[in-house]
Parts: sequence; C-alpha cells; structure tokens
Amino acid sequence: MIGKIIGLGSYLPSKVLSNKDLEEMVETSDEWIVERTGIRERHISDPYTESVSQMAVNAAKSAIEDAGIDPEEIDIIILASTTSNMIVPSSSCVVQKEVGAKNACCFDLNSACTGFLTAYNTAQSFIESGHYKTALVIGSECTSNYVDWTDRGTCILFGDAAGAAVLRADESDKKNMFVLHADGKKGDCLYAENMKQRKDAEELLPKTFFLMDGKEVFKFAVTAVPAIINELCEKYSINKDDVDLFVLHQANSRIIEAVSKRLSVPLEKFPMNIASMGNTSSASIPSLLTELKKAGKLKPGTKIIASGFGAGLTWGASYIEF
Ligand code: UT7
Repeated sequence: MIGKIIGLGSYLPSKVLSNKDLEEMVETSDEWIVERTGIRERHISDPYTESVSQMAVNAAKSAIEDAGIDPEEIDIIILASTTSNMIVPSSSCVVQKEVGAKNACCFDLNSACTGFLTAYNTAQSFIESGHYKTALVIGSECTSNYVDWTDRGTCILFGDAAGAAVLRADESDKKNMFVLHADGKKGDCLYAENMKQRKDAEELLPKTFFLMDGKEVFKFAVTAVPAIINELCEKYSINKDDVDLFVLHQANSRIIEAVSKRLSVPLEKFPMNIASMGNTSSASIPSLLTELKKAGKLKPGTKIIASGFGAGLTWGASYIEF
C-alpha cells in the first residue's frame, strides 16, 4: 500500500520583491543575482495576514479542493516549516481548525529545505503501516522572518510560499521508495539560533537571522543530490531513463544544472520556477508540483524523482508515481 498524491495546492504572497528592489537595499545587481542564482524575483509575506499557518491554510484548502475530498476524511496533517511565526500551537493544528479536518492528528516537523520530503515520507510510513488512509502534507515558509536584509549573501536568495499535497492510500502492493540522510556535523553551514541559546555570545542576539556559508552549501548540494538520486535508483532498481521529471528543491538554478550534468540527464527533465519564487525552503517542491499539475504535466503514470536538501545538513530523495 502506498499513498498516491490525489490533490495539490499552493499559495504565494502577492507582494513581489524584484532584484531591482534589492539593488536599492544592498550592494548587488540584477545581473549578478540572475547569473549566480537564476532568481529574478521572490514573494514576501505580509506579517499580519500571511503567517506560516495562514499561508499553509490557503495551500491546504486548494489541495483539498483539488483532491475533491471531505476534510473530515483526513487522518493526519504533517506540516514542515523552519520559519513558523508561532511555537505553539503547531501550525498543523491551525490548519486542522481552519480546514475542518476534525478527525486528523497533527504535528509540525523541521528539517529545513528537506522538510516537505521528510513530511511526505513520514506520512507514507503511516499509510504503509495501515494506520491511516488520508494524509495532508504541507511545506510553508516565511523565510523573510529570518532574513537579514543587510546581508547580500543571503537576502537575495529566499522567498515566502506554501505548498500542500493530499495523499490517499491505494490498494496496491507498491512500496514507498525513498532515501533520507543527515549530517549534523555540518550544521554550521546554514543556521539560525534562538537568541537565548547562544553559548558563546557576550550579549544576547538582538534578532535571529539565517547565517550561511553559501559556497559550502553549494558544494554539498551538487555532490549530495546526484549521489542520493543514484542511491535511490540503485536501492529500488529504478532506471533513470524511465523517470519523466526530476523535481528538485529550488535553491539555485546553477545547482540544478550541475545535478543534471552529473546525472547525465537532460536539463529539460528538471522543471524550475526559481526565477519567480527564489528559495522557498520546504515550500519549493509542493509549489512546483502544483504548477506542473496545473500545466498538465502530471498525468496518471507520470514518474518523478523529487529531491530536497538544506540545513542540518539534511537531504533526501523520493520516487513518486502519479
Ligand atoms: O536551501 C539551501 C540554502 N542555501 C543555498 O542553496 C545556497 C547555496 N549557495 C549559493 O547559491 C551560492 O553560493 C550563492 C548564490 C549564495 C553565492 O554565489 P557564489 O558564486 O558562491 O558567490 P561567492 O559567495 O563566492 O561570492 C563571489 C563574489 C564575492 O566577491 P569577491 O570576494 O569575489 O570580490 C562576493 O562578495 O560575489 C560577491 N557577492 C555578491 N555580489 C553581488 C556575494 N553576494 C553578492 C551579491 N551581489 N548578492
């Protein structure tokens, strides 16, 4: 038994921050950002109306509508986020209330940009074990809450968004095919610490920001992503040539191009929406899947490999058949 994705939905804040806007804020240029990252603009949430949970509710409602199910059929809601506005209650509980999924159990998880895949595979495990039939899996991020708008090394990269998928158990004997990894020793590559937890500071941090060694993360991504996709293919005897699309976390178009080259898979099989969204962390994969579905590119039988990577370090890959 496996959970089939029967519904997809996403939400994007309406406020757009272009590279030209960033030129007014830090020493950078549209040309540099496009050439080094592929990003042209990103969406920034409204702090009053577009929190992680509010955006998640909007994405979830679209996914539920797309699935054509009654929210009361949902058994479990798992929400991935690294940038929640609220610590408790969890954003998944807010979603439960707002969509009317009164029978669902709920929890949030954090594995940074790998979050959606971690949540998806966790939901699949509940489905495979026969405990639950219908799951709602969400990635929602207000990365702008943790961006230092004076740091040109990070502020040009991130954007806000939410994406959601509804999974429904099928009656097949198929197994969920996935690989997840982590390397806590490389946590320093990308981190944001709570001000009260800082051990070596003389004073408490005034605000929490993402701090990143971009080059290290880049090197990690272009090595780890092809390796984990190859590992997934070997583990489950998947022929890469039979895979229709490789849906990667949208962090940098140069990372995606490098993965395509290292796997010897044509770049046409790697859809991208980073130009208009930037890096939306755990929201990137479900948002891109939603776009692909709307464009008619996810038909019954379409085979994809999704891969995410990010802080932790964490990384993962999943084989998904529509
Ligand atoms: O979800 C995972 C999250 N993180 C990532 O995916 C990040 C992965 N890393 C990257 O995407 C890239 O490393 C960056 C886009 C962050 C940076 O690109 P890079 O090609 O690695 O640039 P760099 O850091 O080596 O910097 C090259 C030059 C430096 O100047 P000098 O020392 O050569 O004079 C930087 O100071 O570019 C400069 N620079 C900039 N210039 C204009 C750095 N950021 C900017 C900027 N605008 N925004």
